[in-house]
Amino acid sequence: MNPLLSLLQPYPFERLRQLFADITPNPVYKPISLGLGEPRHATPKLITDAMVSAINRSPSGLASYPATAGEPALREAFAQWQARRYGLTLDPATQMLPVLGSREALFALAQTVVSRPSDPNAPKPLVVCPNPFYQIYEGAALLAGAEPYFVASDPARNFAPDWASVPDAVWARTQLLIVCSPGNPAGAVMPLSEWQMLFELSDRFGFVIGSDECYSEIYFRDEPPLGGMEAAAKLGRHDFKNLISLTSLSKRSNVPGMRSGFVAGDAAIIKPFLLYRTYHGSAMSPVVQAASIAAWQDEAHVVENRALYRAKFAQVTPMLAEVLNVALPDAGFYLWADVGGDDAAFARELYANYNVTVLPGSFLARQAQGHNPGLGRIRMALVADTAECVEAAQRIVEFTKTRTR
Ligand SMILES: Cc1ncc(COP(=O)(O)O)c(C=O)c1O
Repeated sequence: MNPLLSLLQPYPFERLRQLFADITPNPVYKPISLGLGEPRHATPKLITDAMVSAINRSPSGLASYPATAGEPALREAFAQWQARRYGLTLDPATQMLPVLGSREALFALAQTVVSRPSDPNAPKPLVVCPNPFYQIYEGAALLAGAEPYFVASDPARNFAPDWASVPDAVWARTQLLIVCSPGNPAGAVMPLSEWQMLFELSDRFGFVIGSDECYSEIYFRDEPPLGGMEAAAKLGRHDFKNLISLTSLSKRSNVPGMRSGFVAGDAAIIKPFLLYRTYHGSAMSPVVQAASIAAWQDEAHVVENRALYRAKFAQVTPMLAEVLNVALPDAGFYLWADVGGDDAAFARELYANYNVTVLPGSFLARQAQGHNPGLGRIRMALVADTAECVEAAQRIVEFTKTRTR
């Protein structure tokens, strides 16, 4: 067996299952889960229609092996979307690739860029990650033979990573830095000044930046979130040196089951990434390619989806803010609330008494620099319909009031 597998940590949802194992939730209430960050708004018909017609055409979209690089029309759809959304002019042939969602792409990127030292006693390369963070970053680092380094986060700036706190000795060992903007769980968007700082560090120390942007289309401010490649272009870095952005349809278009996204960026990384992916076997089904083209070409459903989240957050956030320290994020579909005490105990008691599931913040972070930044926080995914989220919020308000009384 690969010994690195033993380094993997239990997934947060497995830890949640264990946390709740001995609880029978109050049967008076029907279960509501704000635990899993899985989009639950309806999949747009234009996407399912495109998929069905790709299956039914002759020869069927299932009758041939797809190329790992995807059809030219698919990469053209990515490029046109990047042009509309970020004002970028990109070469579809060399600067982008389809991926089966950003999760596998994050994993594969680490396997492609991390170079293990030949001396087994040499220090391991580092993959620098935010903290709290999306757990795949850690697993991708560990299975690539690297060590994750978790950057301290700044509660005063909605848990944005404090890049300036990372010592040069850490940057010197770093081969991959993962940025998550908009962030999961706190929803902060990284400003241009921080991108500039990270590009300068990447130039100085030679590491690759993987920019996880899967929440980029769900935002609550007037300005759409700044993308990593958009930031690079604004700073005159038109070759996107050492930068790869990862974008997904899962949240933008409510198709987490379709497994579709793309990466774009530095052509000098895209080329070996394609080679890696050819062997890994992660070509996108032609049927999914057809549905993805339809999704990337349409913006109306994205505007509608965003409006649904905005209306839902506008109702739920003030209700919860009455009893918890919580604010509307820049973007994403989570509320990241301070519960003023033990986050796991809060989640257990809420589940037991009111049958509402929330994720303890400490499960989404690691102890680093002597501190787990998720302690005392909970993550609530507002993915269900508004009525269900409002009902969950009412129960949380009642629970919090009775608990502190
Ligand atoms: C921060 C972050 N990145 C990536 C993903 C993966 O999404 P997908 O593989 O569906 O694109 C998720 C999913 O929840 C996420 O929260």
